[in-house]
Amino acid sequence: MGIGTNVEEAARRLAAGEVVAIPTETVYGLAANALDPAAVARVFEIKRRPSFDPLIVHVRDVRAALEVTDSWPSAARALAEAFWPGPLTLVLERKDVVPDLVTSGLKTVGVRSPAHPVAQRLLEETGLPLAAPSANRFGSISPTTAQHVLDQLGTELDFILDGGPCTVGVESTIIGFDRERCLLYRPGGIPLEAIEACVGPVHDARQDAPTSPRTPGRLPSHYAPRTPLLLGNLDEMLEEYAGQPVGVLAFRSARAAHVCRVLSPTGDLAEAARRLFGALRELDAGRAELLLAEPVPDRGLGRAINDRLRRAARARTVDRDAP
Ligand code: TXA
Ligand code: MG
Repeated sequence: MGIGTNVEEAARRLAAGEVVAIPTETVYGLAANALDPAAVARVFEIKRRPSFDPLIVHVRDVRAALEVTDSWPSAARALAEAFWPGPLTLVLERKDVVPDLVTSGLKTVGVRSPAHPVAQRLLEETGLPLAAPSANRFGSISPTTAQHVLDQLGTELDFILDGGPCTVGVESTIIGFDRERCLLYRPGGIPLEAIEACVGPVHDARQDAPTSPRTPGRLPSHYAPRTPLLLGNLDEMLEEYAGQPVGVLAFRSARAAHVCRVLSPTGDLAEAARRLFGALRELDAGRAELLLAEPVPDRGLGRAINDRLRRAARARTVDRDAP
């Protein structure tokens, strides 16, 4: 396994069918040539990801996206124009060149053009579409530095391309389409308000009747620290667990506790998103036996933060020891 900043080396390895962790502005991805089923199979294996959970395909731009997708609704074009490259994934009809494994047999494929300059250079250098989920074990906390990837998957993948810490810190917003209607599958790095300003009202598809776990957000155990996490009013919870070794994840103001991390003293939601996963990892690695977190304002990037916190918390009771 290698780690480094050499884009040409990463491109060469990807073209040879290897699995490479790559930086994006949201989180690090575990990338393989999207058109090579054997390479994609290794991504699932390394991540211990169930095969029913499809991967996002990363492309340079709209032109490259058109090589793997068909029939874009006009709203999809408007969104790509407004937010690509950037933290927005569009779920579109797929072309036959995309292997079934990438889409878990679905007729659609998620595509995104990442804004990270290193990811852009890599996509240019390889000329390949890159299938990449977040570079963490299935269900655990997403990596926002090369070190996070090294800590969890270092012995299993071929190369880590280090592009520094991720600047957005939460995964992409995922939007699907039902004819011209836009569907929100996962809140993320592009605020819902910005998307609605571009294409009008978006239907929150997370509330729809579940057909399978394949819609992001339906999987109960996700973004989960190993230490149990409770989400609620911090001061009330601190009173309840007084004297116990708890770790606190606060939005703006520190609390007296065994250990405490503050996401943004000024209440800046972008800063809070950037720090979220790193802070969760630090708290999880410490001696605290219980983590307490509070929701942040439910607007802008706050929606994505609250979504991840809710699922980290729910995972505790549902399936906290899942791989
Ligand atoms: O920011 C991101 O999106 C990061 C970086 C690496 O690009 N990637 C990421 O991938 O978060 P992952 O695999 O951890 O989450 C992608 C989600 C999955 O929950 C999957 O179910 C959903 O996207 N997805 C992919 N293709 C889909 C499709 N055709 N229909 C519905 N959901 C899809
Ligand atoms: Mg993920």
